[in-house]
Amino acid sequence: MLTSFEQTIIEPARYQLETLIIGQELLGLEQTASTNSLIRERAFAGVAEGLVIVANEQTAGRGRRGRNWSAPAGSSLLLSLLLRPTWLVPSESFLLTMLAAVAISEAIERETSCTVELKWPNDLLINGRKLAGILVELETAGPERLRWAVIGSGINVNWQPSDDPTINQAATSLASECGHEVDRAGLLRAILHSYDRHYLNLRSGRREALRQAWLDRLTTLGKAVEIELSTHSFVGVAEAVDQHGGLQVRDNTGQLQTVYAGDVKVRPLAQA
Ligand code: BTN
Repeated sequence: MLTSFEQTIIEPARYQLETLIIGQELLGLEQTASTNSLIRERAFAGVAEGLVIVANEQTAGRGRRGRNWSAPAGSSLLLSLLLRPTWLVPSESFLLTMLAAVAISEAIERETSCTVELKWPNDLLINGRKLAGILVELETAGPERLRWAVIGSGINVNWQPSDDPTINQAATSLASECGHEVDRAGLLRAILHSYDRHYLNLRSGRREALRQAWLDRLTTLGKAVEIELSTHSFVGVAEAVDQHGGLQVRDNTGQLQTVYAGDVKVRPLAQA
């Protein structure tokens, strides 16, 4: 028997789903620890690419840099997918973050009246507040190629993060920004279509088109920023993103520093 989540979200999302790869296997769970962890297990077990797992609730959702990702049950789209882009080398893996960010942004804009912007490295913003986060986890086959990638995203849909004291005040949701509840099934279907189209384009070699679509939405460049690394922080102006997805920041001594993993806080320009 189907669960209520399968009946109301997964089955309607499956209806008229016309994808070649993404969501060919689509699994909906009322509750799991983490959809990324579940897909990782399937990846190690050799499951085919395109598997998508969506949860109504996560009990141990994971964010970037070892953080938690939490959202009330039934409020969000918490989904992960498995790709096997063995035609990418590990140094190109930032393209997968770009893929997720562009695919999800376009789907949201198709389904709502909201405009989505991006903050390096992998936040989706509406009106400057965080709407969604992306967590990409990779397995490589040596330095030469990727074996698989799990792309997880948590999208705040029908809840008010500003009402929750445990959530960062800079977080928001589609309901908060668009002024109405958003149909999670329709949004899920649009995301799967969008992922499929962009993944097929990427697989056929259209890296630059994806990079440009991502750059067109990126609001970080030209801004005064504070970069938080695991060992220290520094301030500067974000100037560019290199071929590997690294953020190039001109620091206060005039040196150009490239950051591959860190958090960015945008500051008023005078403070740079
Ligand atoms: C971030 O730190 O901004 C990334 C958050 C990614 C959260 C999603 S929710 C679905 C998937 N499963 C997880 O455990 N994490 C990702």
